[in-house]
Amino acid sequence: GSFGGNSNKTRDITKKLEQTGKNVIIFYGSQTGTAEDYANRLSKEATQRYGLKSMTADLEDYDYENLNSLGDDIVVGFVMATYGEGEPTDNAVNFYEFINDDSSEWAESDEPSADPDSPLSSLNYVIFGLGNNTYEHYNEIGRNLDKRLKKLGAKRIGDYGEGDDGQGTMEEDYLAWKDDLFSAWKEAKGLDEHEAKYEPSVKISETGETASSEDSSSVAEPDAEAMSVYLGEPNKKILRGEIKGPYNAGNPFLANVSETRELFHDPKRSCIHVEFDVGTNVKYTTGDHLALHIQNSDEEVERFLKVIGLWDKRHNVIKAKPIDPTYKPSFPVPTTYDTVVRYYLEINGAVSRQLLAFIAPFAPTETAKKEALRLGSDKNAFADEVAKHYTNIAHVLSKLSGGEPWTNVPFSFLVESLPHLIPRYYSISSSSLVDKSKISITAVVESLEAPEYAIKGVATNLLLDMKIKKDGVDPSKSKDPQAVHYELSGPRGKFGGHKLPVHIRRSNFKLPSDPKKPIIMIGPGTGLAPFRAFVMERAKQAESGTDVGQQLLFFGCRNPNEDFIYKEQWAGIEKELGDKFTMVTAFSRVDPVQKVYVQHRMQEYAKQINDLMQQGAYFYVCGDASRMAREVQATLAKILSDQRGIPLSSAEQLVKSLKVQNVYQEDVW
Ligand code: FAD
Ligand code: 2AM
Repeated sequence: GSFGGNSNKTRDITKKLEQTGKNVIIFYGSQTGTAEDYANRLSKEATQRYGLKSMTADLEDYDYENLNSLGDDIVVGFVMATYGEGEPTDNAVNFYEFINDDSSEWAESDEPSADPDSPLSSLNYVIFGLGNNTYEHYNEIGRNLDKRLKKLGAKRIGDYGEGDDGQGTMEEDYLAWKDDLFSAWKEAKGLDEHEAKYEPSVKISETGETASSEDSSSVAEPDAEAMSVYLGEPNKKILRGEIKGPYNAGNPFLANVSETRELFHDPKRSCIHVEFDVGTNVKYTTGDHLALHIQNSDEEVERFLKVIGLWDKRHNVIKAKPIDPTYKPSFPVPTTYDTVVRYYLEINGAVSRQLLAFIAPFAPTETAKKEALRLGSDKNAFADEVAKHYTNIAHVLSKLSGGEPWTNVPFSFLVESLPHLIPRYYSISSSSLVDKSKISITAVVESLEAPEYAIKGVATNLLLDMKIKKDGVDPSKSKDPQAVHYELSGPRGKFGGHKLPVHIRRSNFKLPSDPKKPIIMIGPGTGLAPFRAFVMERAKQAESGTDVGQQLLFFGCRNPNEDFIYKEQWAGIEKELGDKFTMVTAFSRVDPVQKVYVQHRMQEYAKQINDLMQQGAYFYVCGDASRMAREVQATLAKILSDQRGIPLSSAEQLVKSLKVQNVYQEDVW
């Protein structure tokens, strides 16, 4: 089974710290794992460089009544992501409510309090927020939590820090903040700084056996021993072949890919429609998200295993034993190196500068070590020589050592230092009313033409490879000479067909319950996905005699002949829905001088939009969060202001209140 069994599971922070001998606890509020990764890094550095005894913890796993009685030698960290419309991440919701509860025992003045009787006067804390400045509520959770803690009398060490994913400066923001933090911490508490030395939290060792997915699928009746080695099965039930619900993130459903279709007519870019057959196993409703549990490509797995010198040993069976009792396992054991790299490590993302500094002591040559230290400590050199080239970790290591494998790097170091490979989410583009046994998604294939290597998005190239194999195309005739390939017949696909583990994430992005309500939908690019589902659902309702409301859909793409997705389908729907449905298109790369975007076309439909809003229309936006969603929101405010003759500021307030009432809904990423 998995290791690290949580035998001392307690929700009491004091007890946990006593049991584990820790004096620092870094909590994370994390949705996709980024905040958790930064919390882990902060904790590791506190331990390995400053002699602290630090652990990380999920905010959801503890109670907070005794935050003020931890003692002055304890420091509590908060690494907090802001999610969606300035919301806490799912795992932080309860804590955030607790800390903001204004009941009598938390009663306090409006000013930051230095009063020894204030509710959190004994709490020492450090704080870092993660956000994206293209969203309106940039880092709201981190900022509010810091203010609130101060108000309650808690004592902050160092500055409040925050990182911005929108500008792509998260890594440097974090590094700058934590350097200042540790100086302040040293001053406040007298830390004992020494050269960072890697102390493993987990011991990974070989059992002496070997196992590979090729063997296990060719053995007619695999023996019990071989079957107990995880080769990519997401959990024990699936390893044993007992496929049973309920299905969720921890027990994903192995869904058969029943259809794949290219939606672009573009020699270079791909957007794929993928249908999953889920039968009655997985329930979804229109507007939900599908999470795909993914794997790395054969090419990247090989590159990585070769660079760390484990290619020849890739099928050796390994086990893992936690050294630090608070270590949280990220994969089940026993398993193999290949499995861990293929299914659990994010080996393809951008490289962190700090990782280069930490990995330097394990370099195979003096030159490689010096280079790793130089790039790890010099922000500008790193930006110029690493980040700009979009290289992944294997590329960088190989370049630093001139191809010499890094055989001294402990595997546990990589497992602890690299981010985890996490599921990717997609807006479901099918309607559960039309067919509840089929789920479709609409994914644009990510490929970055870097100066030296093509960087391929992990999930979307997996879907592309599935499509090519399903179509029976000779891989050597693939239109992309740099196409990557995936082990699809492995344990995740071995139950026949093309399978991917999936789970549903419920969303609040929903059609009004009253089908007569008008709807306005803004979905450029793949933002069209959920609206395909919305409109298909309304067409189905109309077909069965229900009176449906007006539907006004704005779609934008580059050019009507290249990336107008589902183009043929819309004509049919227009026929079915008649004057109840209008589609407005914006083509950005047809007119060589003027880009036309969805928000420009909205202006032309100002009167109609306002009329529909006055009739109680719901307004939906899906797609790019970085600029489009904001510009659309601003455009709607402008339209309401012009049409109703009210000041722009009032119209902006109105749009905000529509958001609060869920009349204005967003599904943006
Ligand atoms: P990743 O491997 O995650 O890479 C992401 C990007 O980073 C790529 O452009 C890649 O080229 C780049 N990159 C990778 N490595 C490096 C490096 N070393 N240096 C620099 N850059 C690098 N997408 C859709 O297409 N359709 C949808 O309907 C949809 N709905 C979504 C709904 C939600 C709620 C969310 C959160 C996201 C949604 N997405 C959707 C986005 C989707 O989840 C994925 O993020 C997207 O498909 C890319 O995944 P990937 O694994 O292929 O790319
Ligand atoms: P562009 O790439 O030509 O700039 C889907 O990606 C469509 O959205 C494309 O036509 C793209 O245009 C367009 N788009 C890009 N930025 C946008 C923005 N800020 N607002 C609305 N649409 C945008």
